[in-house]
Amino acid sequence: MTDSLHRDLLALAREAAHRAGELLRDGRPSDLAVARTKSSNVDVVTEMDIAAEKLITDLISGRRPDDGFLGEEGASAEGTSGVRWVIDPLDGTVNYLYGLPTWAVSIAAEQGGETVVGVVAAPMRGETYHAVRGGGAWATGAWEGERALACRPAPPLDQALVSTGFNYVAEVRAHQAALAARLIPLVRDIRRGGSAAVDLCDVACGRLDGYYERGLHPWDFAAGDLIAREAGALTGGRPGEPLSRELTVAAAPGVFEPLQRLLEDFGAWHD
Ligand code: IPD
Ligand code: CA
Ligand code: CA
Ligand code: CA
Repeated sequence: MTDSLHRDLLALAREAAHRAGELLRDGRPSDLAVARTKSSNVDVVTEMDIAAEKLITDLISGRRPDDGFLGEEGASAEGTSGVRWVIDPLDGTVNYLYGLPTWAVSIAAEQGGETVVGVVAAPMRGETYHAVRGGGAWATGAWEGERALACRPAPPLDQALVSTGFNYVAEVRAHQAALAARLIPLVRDIRRGGSAAVDLCDVACGRLDGYYERGLHPWDFAAGDLIAREAGALTGGRPGEPLSRELTVAAAPGVFEPLQRLLEDFGAWHD
């Protein structure tokens, strides 16, 4: 029963992510502008973020009217079925605004408060990543069938390629930049891709050894966290704590603990 529910939720999440991805890829206006700002003047929303969220919530609530929702652009409903959808309709809005290819649609389904399905569609890569709890993590691409994801065999931390992101609020960014400056001599290099969901999937694919960020919301990490864990990565927050807004760390086993310890020593969790 649970397995067939999870399969149904996965199929619906994939359909919604693909449709929203097509809308974003094919419907991007050439004169795309900022519709409004949120926490700061660089925290932008476009009409396409809003249109993609509407497409996803209309599709899912049409099929499953009793489910709850949490979406970045305002989707919020309690629901009565025990299933809640956690949606980032466009993760990487700033990249999308500038025409850079790293952005994604991220959709997770929770049951009883636990993530059971995660889908991240990255249309400009032609790749979609998905996972069902306990069922491994998978990628599908336009050019090949499904392939199982496995994070990279861990190198020592000083040879690890680590990605991060910066919050939209100036004081938080300043602290994050200072932290990155301390970290960079201790690792192979640092990347800033611009989509937390893609960063987490890149850990799952073995394209990154690790990723960390402070200030994420559940819609940024819900799907990618499950995909990374199902690919064998470890995820968490501060040592001994689950990943959260305070701190999100995901890395191949072997890189995870030294990276998490270093971030703790550097005070990565506070502004
Ligand atoms: C942002 C991206 C970015 C991360 C920010 C997020 P958005 O999400 O994931 O990589 O650094 O913290 O807010 O606003 O593009 O959906
Ligand atoms: Ca946003
Ligand atoms: Ca996001
Ligand atoms: Ca977003």
